[in-house]
Amino acid sequence: MNYRHAFHAGSFADVFKHAVLCRILNYLREKPAAFRVIDTHAGAGIYDLTSAEANRGGEWHDGIERLMKAKEEGQLPDNVVTLLAPLLDVIGALNVPGKLKAYPGSPAFTRAWLRADDRLIACELEGQAIVSLNRHMRGDDRIKTFEMDGWTGLQAYVPPPERRGLVLIDPPFEEAADYHRLSHMMGLAHAKWATGIYALWYPIKGRGDVDELAKRLRKSGIPKILRAELIVSPVSDPKRLNGSGLILVNPPWTLERELEILLPALAGLLERQPNSGRYTLDWINGEAAPVKPIAKPVPKPTAKPPAKTPPAAAATGKDRAKPKSR
Ligand SMILES: C[S@@+](CC[C@H](N)C(=O)[O-])C[C@H]1O[C@@H](n2cnc3c(N)ncnc32)[C@H](O)[C@@H]1O
Repeated sequence: MNYRHAFHAGSFADVFKHAVLCRILNYLREKPAAFRVIDTHAGAGIYDLTSAEANRGGEWHDGIERLMKAKEEGQLPDNVVTLLAPLLDVIGALNVPGKLKAYPGSPAFTRAWLRADDRLIACELEGQAIVSLNRHMRGDDRIKTFEMDGWTGLQAYVPPPERRGLVLIDPPFEEAADYHRLSHMMGLAHAKWATGIYALWYPIKGRGDVDELAKRLRKSGIPKILRAELIVSPVSDPKRLNGSGLILVNPPWTLERELEILLPALAGLLERQPNSGRYTLDWINGEAAPVKPIAKPVPKPTAKPPAKTPPAAAATGKDRAKPKSR
């Protein structure tokens, strides 16, 4: 395992993913019933933006630094600032105003919005990252961290005892096989817990793997799958991270409308070259997903079709003609 998120913390992809994560947490907090977040690939918890790792590629300069600067200079429309507040508040609480030095990872954003009865399960496999995660989450009884494979954790902790919650699946994509694993494991998790909210992150270099992922999900029979993608540079160099996407299963009903506002704003702000920012927001499957093909053809009915109902009898109470007054 070579991947270290410390090199990428605060990048455009993190800002987009964490903005959506915070919108979902905001929604979950609106109802009194407790919720649980299962973070399968949790990372180190909090990242030092002054570290050698963070500054080797300096990805955070084109991500969170741009966003904070735009906010401080009043360049963001009010509705965008309002929607980003749950993200910006957490970053603000970690930093001295005007000096961005630390960036929260997904478990730290989640922890900030947990209430007394809400819970977080965070799995992480890489040695340094789990040590850091444990240190940052220590002493909080609402949170359990596990040094374990996130895919195993997904199987083990879904469904959670609470009836409401979010599963964040954010693997490192060191291998192209992770695109396949994502749709396969999503199918297994959904079979066990069909009503949970799921957020699946994926990188966009070229379109091939990404479109195949959407195709497999479309065929999976899982309903209510919203796809949001943020592109920052033309998808012509497949060696580069040109964008990132989120698959959102059972998204909060408010999220599509919120993303219609956030995505264009983030695409304009985080684009690599002028006019290279793009976004996609579409439903891979709607309320009723296409039914999976059945192995055997269903025999045609041989019985007579039912007699047609007279229109007056078929009308609803509302439509029915008023009885004539005597
Ligand atoms: C993209 S990063 C996660 C970032 C984090 N979710 C966030 O948003 O702040 C992916 C993480 O998965 C970890 N990882 C890699 N393989 C793993 C596995 N099989 N199980 C759990 N974690 C794994 C990596 O060490 C890395 O920290």
